Amino acid sequence: MFSSSLPFLSLLSFFSFVIPSIVEVHAAINVTVDNSDPGILYRPLGSWSLDDSYDSGATDHFTGDQDAWAAFNFTGIAVYYLVHLYPSSLPTGGMISLDGGPAVAVTMWNPDRDSYGRQWETVWSAANLTNTTHMLNVSWWPNQLNQFISLDTIMYTIDNETDATSAGSAQPTASGADFGSSTTSSSNNTVPIVYSSSSNYEKLRRLQLRILLR
Ligand SMILES: *[C@@H]1O[C@H](CO)[C@@H](O)[C@H](O)[C@H]1NC(C)=O
Ligand SMILES: *[C@@H]1O[C@H](CO)[C@@H](O)[C@H](O)[C@H]1NC(C)=O
Ligand SMILES: *[C@@H]1O[C@H](CO)[C@@H](O)[C@H](O)[C@H]1NC(C)=O
Ligand SMILES: *[C@@H]1O[C@H](CO)[C@@H](O)[C@H](O)[C@H]1NC(C)=O
Ligand SMILES: *[C@@H]1O[C@H](CO)[C@@H](O)[C@H](O)[C@H]1NC(C)=O
Ligand SMILES: *[C@@H]1O[C@H](CO)[C@@H](O)[C@H](O)[C@H]1NC(C)=O
Ligand SMILES: *[C@@H]1O[C@H](CO)[C@@H](O)[C@H](O)[C@H]1NC(C)=O
Repeated sequence: MFSSSLPFLSLLSFFSFVIPSIVEVHAAINVTVDNSDPGILYRPLGSWSLDDSYDSGATDHFTGDQDAWAAFNFTGIAVYYLVHLYPSSLPTGGMISLDGGPAVAVTMWNPDRDSYGRQWETVWSAANLTNTTHMLNVSWWPNQLNQFISLDTIMYTIDNETDATSAGSAQPTASGADFGSSTTSSSNNTVPIVYSSSSNYEKLRRLQLRILLR
């Protein structure tokens, strides 16, 4: 075993010595975009509402308007759409597209649970994107069931190129990407969501109001 792994180890130590001096480091960093971010375009104006009444402190923008959509531009190499899934009484979802491509139907509720999701869940994502500006668009999914679209959190990954001209480190990992870091500190995946019946009633009340006003 030792003799067969020796050539590999030699190669590894050769590269750990050489690579940091000739290759730039690509650091992938997730950027978290809150639903109140001014970069998100909500249309039609006024049909989206902020819900900040969740007991946990989570927030989202939601709408029951079938003409509604929201769009966000970002420059990066991956993007994630995260929501705290809505409960069984509130069917929720949307059609998500990237750069005007085909829209994908995305479920944003859990028919088996009578409370809001306890944590963020990635309900849609796209990876391996070119490091250019992309536009995400979420719009109404007309499936005869949905009552809402929820826009909770968008996360995108930037490819932060940094110079690595100093060859001081002999760590093999010095030539690898620095995955796992994040610029976000205010949000995390472990926020406990306590079922809030008041926000359910509030949503249904607003939906009924909107239907009455049609
Ligand atoms: C995204 O950028 C394109 C091209 O500049 C622009 O037409 C579009 O309005 C932008 N969308 C948003 C949501 O800002
Ligand atoms: C991205 O590219 C990697 C490497 O080619 C591949 O393994 C992975 O499945 C791709 N991911 C997506 C979402 O296409
Ligand atoms: C987003 O998608 C909706 C539904 O397809 C469309 O009406 C709207 O024009 C799109 N917005 C942008 C900025 O492309
Ligand atoms: C990107 O890298 C530069 C240079 O190392 C650093 O100053 C900057 O803070 C990084 N950007 C982010 C968002 O971490
Ligand atoms: C990706 O694009 C951003 C913004 O244009 C730029 O700052 C960054 O250096 C690019 N990353 C790479 C690896 O080219
Ligand atoms: C960014 O966040 C997504 C979703 O949580 C995760 O799958 C991905 O690994 C993260 N990427 C980085 C570079 O941290
Ligand atoms: C996650 O957020 C909750 C609520 O804001 C907070 O109590 C908890 O300490 C946070 N956990 C971490 C690891 O940041």
